Amino acid sequence: MPEPMGEYAFLRRNDEVSVERLSVQGRMPEWLQGTLLRNGPGQMTVGEQRFRHWFDGFAMLHKFSFAAGRVSYAGKFLDTKARASAEAEGRITYTDFATDPCRSLFARAMAMFNHRVTDNAKVSIGHFAERFLAMTETAIQVEFDPETLDTVGVFQYEDDPVGQMTTAHPHYADGYMYNVVTRFGRASEVRTYRVDQRMRRERLGAFGAATPSYMHSFGMTPNHLIVTEFPLVVNPLALLFWLKPFIENFAWEPRRGTPFTVLDRHTGAVAARFEAEAFFAFHHVNAFERGRELIVDIVAYPDADIVTHYYLERLTAADLRLPHGRLTRFTVPLSGGRVRAEPLADACIELPHIDYAGHNMDPEQRYTYGIGLHSERPHEFYNQLVKIDTRTGTTATWHEPDCFPGEPIFVSAPDRRGEDDGVLLSVVLDAAGARSFLLVLDAHDLQERARAVLPQAVMIGFHGAFVGAPDAS
Ligand code: CO
Repeated sequence: MPEPMGEYAFLRRNDEVSVERLSVQGRMPEWLQGTLLRNGPGQMTVGEQRFRHWFDGFAMLHKFSFAAGRVSYAGKFLDTKARASAEAEGRITYTDFATDPCRSLFARAMAMFNHRVTDNAKVSIGHFAERFLAMTETAIQVEFDPETLDTVGVFQYEDDPVGQMTTAHPHYADGYMYNVVTRFGRASEVRTYRVDQRMRRERLGAFGAATPSYMHSFGMTPNHLIVTEFPLVVNPLALLFWLKPFIENFAWEPRRGTPFTVLDRHTGAVAARFEAEAFFAFHHVNAFERGRELIVDIVAYPDADIVTHYYLERLTAADLRLPHGRLTRFTVPLSGGRVRAEPLADACIELPHIDYAGHNMDPEQRYTYGIGLHSERPHEFYNQLVKIDTRTGTTATWHEPDCFPGEPIFVSAPDRRGEDDGVLLSVVLDAAGARSFLLVLDAHDLQERARAVLPQAVMIGFHGAFVGAPDAS
């Protein structure tokens, strides 16, 4: 990987900036009205200390507003206790995904009684019941104002925390927000719940897990929740004593396979548990029902090595070789039997995205977008955008030398004629130019429509959301 890439993608702290009107090359579609919100790390260093992993950095929100062919931009750090305390003390003070504060043995022993859970919600954006939430894998969600990007504060649900580890990928349907949370304890439990329009949390079903799995997402169909327990597992006692950074307490135990637990989405009742070969994933994509089968598309890896490849030391090394995530279709036979797996395409893909509003849980859903690796430059960080046609297995790509795109977000054209009639929005790091740009691609053929150049190189982020203008269709 060229050195500037690592520097700009993961190390150089981003500035809080605001630009009324970005310079645009090409033509922004006139119909594109609304706001793209993105979340991801904006700061990896505190004083002399550096976070260790891509999933550690302090959350920064980015906002792009589109109107009449123009684009504005603003970036602001999420105002969290974790960051304020680090800035005040000049050192990392809260435990994050793969970084612990330096602690003496005594302090470590005290930590088990007085563990401070980070509010550094840097993974995704939740938009639900008129609220905007920055989300992460601890059960703390931070509300923010989408206009100013000002932090409102940790959102307090009425009930007690339902667990310590959750997913940053809730599902939305019928006016509810669904999620899965793991409660660590003497008898650990995987719990499902839903939140209603008044932000009241209602528990659905739960099941025991003696050694809980690391889970970043889950599947949902019209009638079912699907929880996949990858064999990257933790002994809850290890987390209680917390002698290592969070993720380093987990071990890969492939002999367990990856059981799929299916729950009734409406009652929470555990319907059945199905065995599958061992695999690992961060992201479920679409899931739907076909007769007596559940179809679950997942970006799958043969093992959990991808987690260790995301350490900054590796990401900034010259000999980077990221394991390839592959879009894989899992078929769960509700009448009984093992889960079957079948790859949908050869292409490497991560940060998968579909037209969620239009086609989630839809058996007709066809196109999955994401970031991937260009075949001629496989030793770099994700360096292309990819579109997979799940029906044919064929792919379309966009790439440019020294450019590293983030998660593509689909925005539908008004009065569209097909699933891919719209644009993809992606924040692309131009490492050679030492800045990023917002790229607008035609979602049909991945041809460039326009780009808007940012005043800085933005650290590679994770997930975002597009919110249409109220007057737009
Ligand atoms: Co994710």
